[in-house]
Amino acid sequence: MSVLMLGACRLEACEADITTLAVDAIVNAANTSLLGGGGVDGAIHRAAGPDLLRECETLGGCATGDAKLTRGYRLPARYVIHAVGPVWRGGAHAEAALLASCYRRSLELAGAAQCASIAFPAISCGIYRFPAEQAVRIAIDTVVDSLPLAPKVTRIVFACFGEPMLRLYAEELARRQAPPSKPA
Ligand code: AR6
Repeated sequence: MSVLMLGACRLEACEADITTLAVDAIVNAANTSLLGGGGVDGAIHRAAGPDLLRECETLGGCATGDAKLTRGYRLPARYVIHAVGPVWRGGAHAEAALLASCYRRSLELAGAAQCASIAFPAISCGIYRFPAEQAVRIAIDTVVDSLPLAPKVTRIVFACFGEPMLRLYAEELARRQAPPSKPA
């Protein structure tokens, strides 16, 4: 596990199945229908049970770059924030801005729901093929910049599937670590 403290907020990267995390909200890498799919979306729907799909059916979908909140049902997490990341189409179709918007909107919703802890998957880095290194930089930059939107959040988890993804997050978190102050 890799950790960065920013004031009262702890950012951590770990290898984990996000559906097992006991946090206030987990973020889903959904699609615009919000009606389920493969990857982390499929895992979340399986673990939450059919009531999650029933609630999602009432939401009228979600635009790319935006997010919507539901309950977590059978998950240990109280809420699921369904964010819709961009499909990577070469980088000239506002993919970076849309991905950043997913993280910002998710934190905004977590703030409105008074969450203290939230876990993110690597949105768009699977089926949607966003280059992982760039996506990880955007994820951490945007979360750090957006912390004021969720003032009660004191724990942010980046849940990684696989060691290579964890390594990317660990490197990015380490880069932001302030150097230790020199003894006087
Ligand atoms: N816990 C944590 N991370 C996971 C898990 C899990 N249980 N399962 C997969 N990942 P993806 P996308 C990682 O494909 O690229 C769906 O069909 C995975 O290794 O789930 O945003 C939706 O309905 C990768 O690093 O999401 C959409 O149609 C990251 O989560 C589409 O896929 C995201 O991979 C969204 O594609």
